[in-house]
Amino acid sequence: MRPPADCMLCPLCSGRTSIVLPSGDPSSGIAFVGEAPGEFEDRQGKPFVGRSGKILDKIMAEEGLDRSKVMITNTVKCRPPKNRDPTKEEMAACRSFLDSELYGCRLVIGLGKSACRDLLGYEGKMGEIANKRMSITIGGKEVVFIPTYHPAACIYSKEARAGLRETIRTAREEIEAGN
Ligand code: URA
Repeated sequence: MRPPADCMLCPLCSGRTSIVLPSGDPSSGIAFVGEAPGEFEDRQGKPFVGRSGKILDKIMAEEGLDRSKVMITNTVKCRPPKNRDPTKEEMAACRSFLDSELYGCRLVIGLGKSACRDLLGYEGKMGEIANKRMSITIGGKEVVFIPTYHPAACIYSKEARAGLRETIRTAREEIEAGN
């Protein structure tokens, strides 16, 4: 189930140019979930094509993970004003769309605090949970969930960059193992 082109389930509809749907391979069973579209994503209608996307692409390339081999999406499909964090209400309004994207996945990776707030209800620091394997339920099915740092956090933090790199390596290994 996708949001309709005229979706008005939350106030983010008023400022959007595009509804940003997942990119990559939805049948891969591996999903990266970011926060929300930014300016470039809103303009191009694709997730992670701006500054954070360049960081994600670079680390994926360095770790030998082809971006087109996984699904990349966001908690909310429309850009929040001034790139503020999506609210709980906005994430809740978009949640059924995210659930249908993630249904049947074997590994879901949460990029940063909004994804972890939405999918785990976690409100703490990323450093406490990054790269710990967890389990979430999507449509009644258990799915492995790995929380990690958002690519934007890697601009100023070596720890975040190393953490995200480790997660991407794990995803590549999962693909290779065909798990
Ligand atoms: N671009 C996205 O698509 N998602 C983010 O979380 C950040 C930038």
